[in-house]
Amino acid sequence: MIDPKTDPLDSAYADVHFKDRCCQLITASGARTVCEIGGGRSPLLSLDEVRALKLDYTILDVSAHELRRAPDGYTKVVGDIGALDASSIADRYDFMFSRMVAEHVRDGAAMHRNVFSLLRPDGAAFHLFPTLFAPAFVLNRLLPEQAARRLVVALWPHRASEIPKFPVRYSKCFGPTPRMHRFFEGLGYGIEEYRPFYGTTYAHAVPVLGGLEAWFNTTMARRRSTRFTSYAWLVLRKPRPAGRTAHG
Ligand SMILES: C[S@@+](CC[C@H](N)C(=O)[O-])C[C@H]1O[C@@H](n2cnc3c(N)ncnc32)[C@H](O)[C@@H]1O
Repeated sequence: MIDPKTDPLDSAYADVHFKDRCCQLITASGARTVCEIGGGRSPLLSLDEVRALKLDYTILDVSAHELRRAPDGYTKVVGDIGALDASSIADRYDFMFSRMVAEHVRDGAAMHRNVFSLLRPDGAAFHLFPTLFAPAFVLNRLLPEQAARRLVVALWPHRASEIPKFPVRYSKCFGPTPRMHRFFEGLGYGIEEYRPFYGTTYAHAVPVLGGLEAWFNTTMARRRSTRFTSYAWLVLRKPRPAGRTAHG
């Protein structure tokens, strides 16, 4: 039997390996200024890890409430990555990343444009997000927010009492289709990795429908569908202007 944590197409793999890949990208490029978008109450890197890697680490989150719940010691900025004026803080970060945030942003194109502005030339962005057209996320997108919230509480009462459900939009949250490649390249990014993952945890929570969903996702994984993915991770790089070397 395949272990989902080692099957590179399974969404559990993305979950388990995201942090390692993030740290690899930071250390490989010698990044110092790092911004975690939507880090909220639980930033990916602990303060000890931030110190060990000698990072200047900012958490940017739309919710002041979530940021207040993160430990003291981080630089915290309240802001909507899809609606901020990036011009005043352009070329600020060596590395920006988000995990389970892009699906909440109202205007995904604006988010990726803003990240591009905020990155220094040669800086990289790394995002992990759920994608349409996985059936569970299509349902989540179509259900009115109140109904979706009630469903989450019914399925995971314990988790729902701890973590609020943020409204979802799935703007620009798609797998690595040719169209999405063109979209990111059109913004000026170089695409270093655009990996699809398949499967959600809904299969375990809902008896019959969940089984059908699991079968569907497994079939899509076998076909390497780029349209019916469940999650994607994306490594983007802002090119250095022509003629400039790594040292400026
Ligand atoms: C589902 S939580 C994910 C938290 C964390 N990244 C993780 O993986 O555990 C979504 C986070 O994104 C933040 N968020 C939602 N929309 C945002 C936006 N437009 N700009 C910045 N942060 C946003 C929320 O406040 C929340 O902290």
